[in-house]
Amino acid sequence: MSRSPVRTAVFPIAGQGTRFLPATKAIPKEMLPVVDKPLLQYAVEEALAAGIERMVFVTARGKGAMEDHFDIAAELAASLQAKGKTAELALINDARLLPGSILSVRQQEPLGLGHAVWCARHVIGNDAFAVLLPDELLWSPANPALAEMHTAYSRVGGNLISVLEVPEDHTHRYGIVTPGQVDGLITEVKSLVEKPKPGTAPSRLAVIGRYILQPEVIALLAEGTRGAGGEIQLTDAMAQLIGVQPFHALTFTGERFDCGDKAGHITANIALALERPDIGPSVREWLATRNLG
Ligand code: UTP
Repeated sequence: MSRSPVRTAVFPIAGQGTRFLPATKAIPKEMLPVVDKPLLQYAVEEALAAGIERMVFVTARGKGAMEDHFDIAAELAASLQAKGKTAELALINDARLLPGSILSVRQQEPLGLGHAVWCARHVIGNDAFAVLLPDELLWSPANPALAEMHTAYSRVGGNLISVLEVPEDHTHRYGIVTPGQVDGLITEVKSLVEKPKPGTAPSRLAVIGRYILQPEVIALLAEGTRGAGGEIQLTDAMAQLIGVQPFHALTFTGERFDCGDKAGHITANIALALERPDIGPSVREWLATRNLG
């Protein structure tokens, strides 16, 4: 099985974001900002840090803002230039990608995450690929999550998922790994248990939104089997590769924010704002007035 560098990343961004209505009625969830940057830009920057060259956006109707965000904004750039706003100009240029590095495909109906990944099949071809769920912000600036996974992948190959150690009483909210051999932060995956009943979880390792997968998963997704919620689930297809191909989990040691959820999004904003030298002090000051700082 190939362990050649992973160069393609799929960003499933065609969901409806119903947990975040009404904000997501006209604005894609993945364009919601954390402090001043859209969620999707954090994920794209994480992919770039991992050496990804091809970004595949799986989009839907009304989501054109996401492609525009990584394009040239010629009028805005000219206007900022004319006004001498060089810092602002740098910010918009930072969000540009090399021409041709975004490929976009449509998921015509939101039939589930697995279906979204399958929609990218012609771009994925026969190589291993990464999947990043941009509404999960994995915050670890010194060791970005996908780059760490890429390093681990070069050792173990096969399929590699990101997991987070969660408290015992939270395991029922996640897909949980049944662990095999453990080597530092890399755990062999024996099976995946979706949302186990309290007290029955096989570990505290919860599956989170970063994956490096072998292309064989596409044929399994093509079967279109409906799983939880009547959706075509990526987890169900992945689980069929366990025991057939190497399958490991890498424990993420940074902070994860579920920004598809209102509370998770607010927490991410506070946490990242506090780290910023420009706005951190005033946010901290306000928190202190509420005895929270
Ligand atoms: P979520 O389940 O978090 O997204 O999927 P959602 O369905 O938009 O959210 P809610 O539950 O209604 O609030 C995780 C990622 O998968 C994408 C989403 O856009 C999100 O980035 N997704 C999900 C798709 O691209 N297509 C789908 O059919 C489902």
